[in-house]
Amino acid sequence: MSVDAMTQVKELLQEIENANPQGPEAVEQFRVRFVGTKNILKPLMGEIRNVPGELKRDFGQLINQAKTLAEAKFEVFRLQAEVAAEEAQAQNLDLTAPGEPLDLGSRHPVSITLNRIIQIFERIGFVVAEEREIEDDWHNFSAMNTPEDHPARDMQDTYYLLNSAEMLLRTHTSSVQARVMTTQKPPIRIIAPGRVYRNETISARSHCQFHQVEGLYIDKGVSFADMKQTLYYFAQEMYGPHTKIRLRPSFFPFTEPSAEMDVSCFICNSKGCNVCKYSGWVEIMGCGMVDPQVLINCGIDPEVYSGFAFGMGIERQAMMLYTITDIRLLFENDVRFLKQFSKAL
Ligand code: DAH
Repeated sequence: MSVDAMTQVKELLQEIENANPQGPEAVEQFRVRFVGTKNILKPLMGEIRNVPGELKRDFGQLINQAKTLAEAKFEVFRLQAEVAAEEAQAQNLDLTAPGEPLDLGSRHPVSITLNRIIQIFERIGFVVAEEREIEDDWHNFSAMNTPEDHPARDMQDTYYLLNSAEMLLRTHTSSVQARVMTTQKPPIRIIAPGRVYRNETISARSHCQFHQVEGLYIDKGVSFADMKQTLYYFAQEMYGPHTKIRLRPSFFPFTEPSAEMDVSCFICNSKGCNVCKYSGWVEIMGCGMVDPQVLINCGIDPEVYSGFAFGMGIERQAMMLYTITDIRLLFENDVRFLKQFSKAL
């Protein structure tokens, strides 16, 4: 019996050495015979007790050798079969079949408009300052010289955070002026784009959230003429070289003097159309010289420094540029609407 076992192991070892299974089924047969839980080597191992003492060692070594070799060979066969299967699959690939079209995303018209405005100001040395949308009362109102009893502070207009008389959703990007002036020293030349919130009834012309870009320039000897020339440059870059501007006196708590700026209607060339309501002019921003009190509030000496500021809404400009007649379209994220701007500007 023991001699038989020895012969059998030798034969099996030979068989393993010569094995060269072709195809997944043959590999599986090899696995079952030599590696699986009921493999043929297992019962043979028990035979060691019947092997005469002087042969026990050889027998043990042989059977271990068979086991190790079977496992190693099986691993190779398995990988070969895998590669072969992949190659077969690759051969079935039809490289001439038309590809699946990639659905490319596109920029939102508000982002396109915003990016254009940012680029124009970056060319003359303004840097982008981004700040928080949840603001405190001081940065949004007090620092900006807006008195306690100003109607803008009313719950009707401002979204306050629940149970807080202090924290609110910023109603304009002018809050960034206070953020920057209290943390940076002049010269300051920033533009602050971002989202703002107001408790307005949503309609075709107004929304409770929209975007603004704020501008602030503080240095020694900054004048109203500097502001006018900067904004004139902006208007021409944005709306074309024939664009004219018009500054109308206005009031904002944080600027003195204050103005509203109109650009000549670029849709009808000031001849009169729906967009300019037949006036030839379109209002695009508020602006003015930074009120000395605002500088004081933010720790800047108005005897040394002066500056100008401006703020403009983005949605209305995007709507004019693309003749969009309902602001709500800009917030609905309807792909059919957004797709139209993929090649725009
Ligand atoms: N903050 C104003 C608004 O929300 C816009 C504005 C007007 C900003 C005049 C300014 C400015 O910086 O100087 O309507």
